[in-house]
Amino acid sequence: MSEEKRVQVAIDGPASAGKSTIAKILAKQLSYVYVDTGAMYRAITLAAQQAGIAYDDEQAVAALLPQLQIDFAPGEPVQHVFLNQEEVTEAIRSTEVTNNVSTIAANPAVRADLVARQRAMAAAHSVIMDGRDIGTTVLPAAPVKIFLVASVAERAERRYRENVAKGMTVELATLKKEIEARDYKDSHRAVSPLVKADDAITVDTTGQSIEQVVARIQTIITEKTKDQA
Ligand code: DC
Repeated sequence: MSEEKRVQVAIDGPASAGKSTIAKILAKQLSYVYVDTGAMYRAITLAAQQAGIAYDDEQAVAALLPQLQIDFAPGEPVQHVFLNQEEVTEAIRSTEVTNNVSTIAANPAVRADLVARQRAMAAAHSVIMDGRDIGTTVLPAAPVKIFLVASVAERAERRYRENVAKGMTVELATLKKEIEARDYKDSHRAVSPLVKADDAITVDTTGQSIEQVVARIQTIITEKTKDQA
């Protein structure tokens, strides 16, 4: 594919708004590469855990970065994630990683390193990239920017259903509190906080089916990229 025809779709929004589910379906439909940037922050968190490094030891975590290779491979129902060639798809979703990834994501050295990796991926392929700072920082010139939101209550219920399917029992109220805590941390950190890009289109998924949200974003992508075809 020629450089001019490469398309970048940025999908940002808070935890459990449906970003990865939606982004993965769209990427398959459009034959773009799906880049789950949250998984990259999670992989670094797992690496710190495995190395026995305190999550808030910014320098020690930064020193790990050059040794860490993160790769993705398509998969169902979730994309496969590899850390130094070892599959970590499930390990990066542990409660330990989930509850500490915000600390790692607030580390400026980690952000600089991962943003560079994400831009390199977008330079090589048409991408659908989901995260928190894609439209504002990673790909500010992306022709399509979506800000995906849903109520806290609905996001907690979605996470609850996912957990039950995995055989985990965490109370709904606890999940709601965790989501609120993560929203707060992600929105208030000094470097690249979660904010909507001025030119992003907000899509509220509360009460919407996956199909409805995919169709809505598909329409936005077609509209925004029609001059690029
Ligand atoms: O989307 P997720 O829950 O897998 O993201 C994990 C964490 O990483 C979340 O706390 C926010 C952070 N993150 C970020 O700061 N910037 C991104 N581009 C993606 C995720």
